[in-house]
Amino acid sequence: MSNLQNTQILEQQNFFDVIRERRSVRVFDPSVQISREEITEILEQAALAPSSANLQPWRFLVIDTPELKQKLLPIAFNQQQVIDASAVIAILGDLESYKKAESIYNQAVEAGFMPADTAKSMVERMVGMYQSLPPEVIHQIIYTDGGLVSMSLMLVARAKGYDTVPMGGYDKAKFDEAFGIPENYKSVMLIPLGKATKPGHPTTRLPINEVVFFNEI
Ligand SMILES: Cc1cc2nc3c(=O)[nH]c(=O)nc-3n(C[C@H](O)[C@H](O)[C@H](O)COP(=O)(O)O)c2cc1C
Repeated sequence: MSNLQNTQILEQQNFFDVIRERRSVRVFDPSVQISREEITEILEQAALAPSSANLQPWRFLVIDTPELKQKLLPIAFNQQQVIDASAVIAILGDLESYKKAESIYNQAVEAGFMPADTAKSMVERMVGMYQSLPPEVIHQIIYTDGGLVSMSLMLVARAKGYDTVPMGGYDKAKFDEAFGIPENYKSVMLIPLGKATKPGHPTTRLPINEVVFFNEI
């Protein structure tokens, strides 16, 4: 079966199979190069994730050259997946996401989803609120939204027949310095994206009744 047919079949996979079959993969086929066009498509789907006030604070730095992956290797504590994956996607959160509020809400007006005066007053309120929020609250928002988009990315990748691993194991300060990350962007996690040559380890989950509480803890 060609790769294309394989992908097409996987694209029709049942959502519950996609959830079950996503595993953290750490051994990737270094010969597989996913095109920038396809990576962009994956990110476009992932960005359908929800976000606080729809401000979409995520920014994606796609690292796909051998030189930059080599530069990342020691920063990621020599985890080989950053070399062998087709690309490593750094999920960043913009602390100044409110600066795009006007263009986001204008889009909604143009699409006919919201009257212009509603959008204008929402933008004014939101910009005022974000500028007065303590930094730790903004950090919490971008990490929450960044986690949601990361999960979407990993599921979209799996639905397209690709594999990922979420990575928090890297030196964030060194990463920011090496990759010239602006002050207002915080890195949330790294996600190597590629094709597994070895499936992820099977993992278990706590029995659901140990983690679910109805109405009281
Ligand atoms: C925030 C976060 C950080 C993680 N960091 C790493 C990492 O640095 N390296 C790694 O190999 N796996 C990392 N993992 C993957 C976890 O080990 C993995 O998700 C967990 O063992 C469950 O396995 P599964 O993803 O295959 O279901 C991380 C997962 C999360 C959610």
